[in-house]
Amino acid sequence: MGQDSAFFITTPIYYVNDKPHIGHAYTTLACDVIARFMRLDGRKVHFLTGTDEHGQKVEKSAEAAGKPPLQFCDEVSTNFRTLARTLNISNDDFIRTTEPRHIAACQALWQELLAREEIYLGAYEGWYSVRDEAFYTEGELVDGKAPTGAPVEWVKEPSYFFRLSAWGDRLLQHYDENPDFIGPDSRRNEVISFVKGGLKDLSVSRTSFSWGIPVPGDPAHIMYVWLDALTNYLTAVGYPDVESESFQTFWPANLHMVGKDIVRFHAVYWPAFLMAAGIAPPKAVFAHGWWTNEGQKISKSLGNVIDPYALVENYGLDQTRFFLLREVPFGQDGDFSHRTMLLRINADLANNLGNLVQRVLTQVQKNCGAAVPAIQSPSGEDQVLLAQAYALLPALREHIAKSELHQFLNRLWDVINEANRYIDREAPWTLKKTDPPRMATVLAVLVEVIRVVGILLQPVMPDSAAKILDLLAVPNGDRGFSAIETGILAAGAPLPPPSGVFPRLPVPEAP
Ligand code: MSP
Repeated sequence: MGQDSAFFITTPIYYVNDKPHIGHAYTTLACDVIARFMRLDGRKVHFLTGTDEHGQKVEKSAEAAGKPPLQFCDEVSTNFRTLARTLNISNDDFIRTTEPRHIAACQALWQELLAREEIYLGAYEGWYSVRDEAFYTEGELVDGKAPTGAPVEWVKEPSYFFRLSAWGDRLLQHYDENPDFIGPDSRRNEVISFVKGGLKDLSVSRTSFSWGIPVPGDPAHIMYVWLDALTNYLTAVGYPDVESESFQTFWPANLHMVGKDIVRFHAVYWPAFLMAAGIAPPKAVFAHGWWTNEGQKISKSLGNVIDPYALVENYGLDQTRFFLLREVPFGQDGDFSHRTMLLRINADLANNLGNLVQRVLTQVQKNCGAAVPAIQSPSGEDQVLLAQAYALLPALREHIAKSELHQFLNRLWDVINEANRYIDREAPWTLKKTDPPRMATVLAVLVEVIRVVGILLQPVMPDSAAKILDLLAVPNGDRGFSAIETGILAAGAPLPPPSGVFPRLPVPEAP
């Protein structure tokens, strides 16, 4: 497969100070859907996730747990691997910033920046927030706290600086020439106005603690955790070996998916570091919004953290994957509520999709000899519905390209809803007596629509889509997107007995 088809997508790497929560699940899931879509569409994908293990925040958490930092990181990092498995995430690699490959990559990048005189030694004096692992100017503080509400402390120490101030114009030019570099637009505007406001040189080393990657040639300093963390994206494709096949194939990354709180690091600092080191910046950074819980900000102190394991346990894996992406326009903030989740699963999955599949396949089983029926002299109506199903793939490609994951699902449900209206209008259960060949055609059209929908649902609900395709006896080799055109089921092919795909969940009375 050629370079044109390669697609490198990344999640942020997660701090190991915390248990995985819905925010981590959300970013990783969104990437998984895109990665699976691209693979099914024939692209050569590299999907990276992992853990961010250095810095003061992690050092303090290890201390509080009474464990040596590396042992603490080993334990917490495992929780994130387990989360990925539990959510059926198809990542190709899981990186940890404490790995030798990453330490080597960071030190190489540092040396490159130093050789190019993009880094110089000075002294930092100012505010620092351990929770955000970020420096703040006096002017940015709100009531003595970081703009995020995190506490800040005054830091005064020798420090290396990156000449960020010299990169403002080139960053603005980059945003201008690459309108899709930052999405959605609201974030793009925010970043542009931040850069237009003027950039100061960035402190990129610390001396007051030691849990980090040593600065080459000056081990009293460790690298600023964000320089270390961002470099993971390069490490994973083989940097500093820029001639390696993986680097040549996958760099620049196609998409860094992030939460809105860390856009500045990815869309300002990161492309500046890269350009300064003579490396191409990523093609795009997309920032999703934040979840609140039943109207409240999610925080450990409020005790309202949403546990992704509990969601999977209570609602089912694919139901959880579906709900998180269906409920909120991707890129905007959204509110989680158990009741909405139940209603959404019952309406969209149990009723609209599950019932459709069940109704069609039961009738095929009983009235078409448990075999794929044939489409004979299709009517205009039949052709309209089929055309809608075949028009999905190009439309979905566009939505995926823009990270419009909710629109992806909306489009699919437009066709599912249309198919439900069609079956009600055509009433094959009545045609059974009046016009059996027409009944067979109607059911055959529906089988075909379900096949196409089943193939296209795979990125979001891999197991349930597989179950639907199994019920249609679609061979494994015919489940990629190219099979939408080539894999039409042969009339007369036997079908297994139908079984339910999405159970209906009991809805408690509203309080
Ligand atoms: N370690 C850094 C990222 C380094 S990437 C080179 C980090 N880690 S994090 O664990 O704090 O956050 C990871 C992601 O979780 C962020 O993208 C953040 O936006 C996301 N979320 C955290 N809480 C969230 C919600 N309540 N809702 C949605 N996403 C949220 O930042």
